[in-house]
Amino acid sequence: MNTSSTDIAAALLAWYDRHARVLPWRSKPGAPPPDPFRVWLSEVMLQQTTVAAVIPYFEKFTTRWPDIPSLAAADDGEVMAAWAGLGYYARARSLLACARAVAGRGGHFPDTEAELRKLPGLGEYTAAAVAAIAFGRRAVVVDANVERVAARLFSIDEPLPAARKAIRAAADAITPTERAGDFAQAMMDLGASVCTSRAPKCLICPLGAMCEARSLGDPERFPVKAVKKAKPTRRGSAFWIEREGAVLLVRRPGKGMLGAMRALPDDGWSARGDGSGVVPLSGDWQTCGTVQHVFTHFALEMQVLVWSGEECCDPDGEQGEWWPLSRIGEAGLPTLFAKAARLVMAQREEGTE
Ligand code: ADE
Ligand code: SF4
Repeated sequence: MNTSSTDIAAALLAWYDRHARVLPWRSKPGAPPPDPFRVWLSEVMLQQTTVAAVIPYFEKFTTRWPDIPSLAAADDGEVMAAWAGLGYYARARSLLACARAVAGRGGHFPDTEAELRKLPGLGEYTAAAVAAIAFGRRAVVVDANVERVAARLFSIDEPLPAARKAIRAAADAITPTERAGDFAQAMMDLGASVCTSRAPKCLICPLGAMCEARSLGDPERFPVKAVKKAKPTRRGSAFWIEREGAVLLVRRPGKGMLGAMRALPDDGWSARGDGSGVVPLSGDWQTCGTVQHVFTHFALEMQVLVWSGEECCDPDGEQGEWWPLSRIGEAGLPTLFAKAARLVMAQREEGTE
């Protein structure tokens, strides 16, 4: 290929100057970098979640906790509840740990990739993204969008995940010294709007003239993916125990799946996954239905059992808390349990019609 990597960066940045998405954590192309706190928060939220899904969470967090001192001082449970629905709850916990670590060093983020890496929850991707976007450092930022664009530009035909090394080297080769943050975000925007997984719009692409995948004629083929193993399915049960207009919610253990989140009591599927667990109290249990949820390493089919009986366990809420049904939306239930609650409530409405 005769085009040089500087041609690619120049063409992409010129495109970004005209087409950058306007997003609440960004500054305009070429403008001074935004507040590192906002960059960091957005990048943590954006891992594995779409920009559209993140925007309302970002607004909610920054309205309530606009900076490191306020987030560092926040109540853990409130932060976890505000995070509910974004998924990957371990990330919310390390978000707090990081805010507190940064507060402990005077409220300032370190400004190099290597120092950023030492903060809780900052992996290779986030450290590079914050160094580039918030501090203008040259750093190689590789997320799924960047991966796709780079694999196509250089027609890397090794399958993922083995191709990651070659893709990173390719991304490194085209990352400019100046405007590395804009460059990274330009790659992301191009991947989101032009170089999409399906039906990439090569005809309007600013890199069309320099793209190997395009000249080979089948850009969708890249990046090549290894054949995926199907996720195993686990089965389990959650228990709906209601009295006097309130439902019993528990706080999950701090470690493990959905750690420290509020939840319905369950049979321990997350630890064992065979659904053989115990029913927490005797009485009549009726199946309300099943909710499905896909986690990183398995899919879950969770049966929702509704209790009706005379003697209720735990009237004083010693093992959990009686949460008013009218405020169930404010409990900060993770998506799995929010689905279960919706299922029960929906059946109730049908029943009373
Ligand atoms: N995905 C992850 N980080 C992003 C950013 N800064 N802009 C757009 N999409 C992103
Ligand atoms: Fe992607 Fe097509 Fe542009 Fe190549 S020319 S980077 S495949 S949109």
